[in-house]
Amino acid sequence: MAKTKTVYVCNSCGNDSPKWLGKCPVCGEWNSYVEEHISTGQQKRGADIFETERPRPLQLKDVSTGEDPRINLKDDELNRVLGGGLVPGSLVLLGGEPGIGKSTLILQTVLKLNDIKTLYVSGEESARQLKMRADRINSSNEHCYILCETNLEQIFVQAKNVTPDFIVIDSIQTVYTDTIESSPGSVSQVRECSARILKYAKESGVPVILIGHINKEGSIAGPKVLEHIVDAVLQFDGDQHYMYRILRSIKNRFGSTAELGIYEMRQNGLREVSNPSELLLTQNHEGLSGVSISAAIEGVRPFLIETQALVSTAAYGTPQRSATGFDIRRMNMLLAVLEKRAGFKLIQKDVFLNIAGGLKVNDPGMDLSVIAAVLSSNLDIAIDRHVCMTGEVGLSGEIRPVNRIEQRILEAEKLGFQEILIPYNNLKGFTTKTNIKILQVRKVEEAFRHLFS
Ligand code: TYD
Ligand code: MG
Repeated sequence: MAKTKTVYVCNSCGNDSPKWLGKCPVCGEWNSYVEEHISTGQQKRGADIFETERPRPLQLKDVSTGEDPRINLKDDELNRVLGGGLVPGSLVLLGGEPGIGKSTLILQTVLKLNDIKTLYVSGEESARQLKMRADRINSSNEHCYILCETNLEQIFVQAKNVTPDFIVIDSIQTVYTDTIESSPGSVSQVRECSARILKYAKESGVPVILIGHINKEGSIAGPKVLEHIVDAVLQFDGDQHYMYRILRSIKNRFGSTAELGIYEMRQNGLREVSNPSELLLTQNHEGLSGVSISAAIEGVRPFLIETQALVSTAAYGTPQRSATGFDIRRMNMLLAVLEKRAGFKLIQKDVFLNIAGGLKVNDPGMDLSVIAAVLSSNLDIAIDRHVCMTGEVGLSGEIRPVNRIEQRILEAEKLGFQEILIPYNNLKGFTTKTNIKILQVRKVEEAFRHLFS
């Protein structure tokens, strides 16, 4: 008979211990151990119905790369983030906060694929709910099978019957296997189920997309090992109150992690945004102070984005500082640079910063436009709306070079800007003739004089 044993498993790295521990000795995480019940003496771990002949060592030169082309998912953003389509036999994890649109993204993709057979396994919604969602997205597809099941063994049985070309599991936290006693979503269940799904994908050549939840710390729920075993990890990000969503690749064994996809959440599903600068172009901010335009790069794509700042005299003793879509520590650093190096008295001021569209931008080239927006609001002078800028600001107030400067300049020109401020000496090797006026600045003061006098 199967016996159950209690073990404590680290949520972060998956290490187990017979006793509860405050700090994980392997990954150093505090308070990460959770209690789990594991049954022993049952079916051996990992044994499943897809057991095949054991492989023998091969010489690398004898391994065929396979002529299987990638599966075109008919969604340019998703294809690009995956590195040019879905690789047969790959296991992809799509993570994101609840309600961000993971199920919508994958369902609408599956419904567009009318030349291959797909199986959408949902452990979260009933078939009726899925149908309602499909109606909302306004598409139907006779090659798409829906299965509402959470038992892994049953999923494999149905997969064998249906023989799909592509499987989606929504979500990995709802799936469980009989071989492990603990509840669905626990570390050992997630680990075991994904390991077996990986084995299935590799042996059958059928690509699988797993949808995963994000826990409150912002990482994909379940042990880190989940991220290690899959071939690619995609993250779906964005502010639920805004309509824009960003799809990033955090890990990709078959492509670059620099690519990103942008979507807009509409009444009838997600729309691909092929020209990200449209985030900005819809705004009309002529004559408003506290607004500056940055020529930013996210991943490998250039786009122009609006930075807004509001500076006002602090009502309380301690001034308030808040930033949306920008790292607050970086903003504080930039304010300190303005204070110390450029002599602006911001110490008694509240500063609020906002990046338009609810996007989080990590590009250091945003610094210059953050500073410009803050100063513009502080002085209550609007920046000419035909001017945009890019540049990283260093601790001594110097403006440091940024990457992909050509792309930034060309994007700004394409969108009709007349002038761009860029870091000094950043133009090496750039020979393209442009109509946009390029102004190279060395220091924050220089940019300040140019913008406000
Ligand atoms: P959902 O895909 O269920 O999110 P997740 O699977 O990541 O939890 O997305 C749910 C949200 O998306 C919900 O707030 C409603 C909204 N939505 C739209 O705005 N338009 C649509 O066409 C659909 C299907 C959903
Ligand atoms: Mg969902």
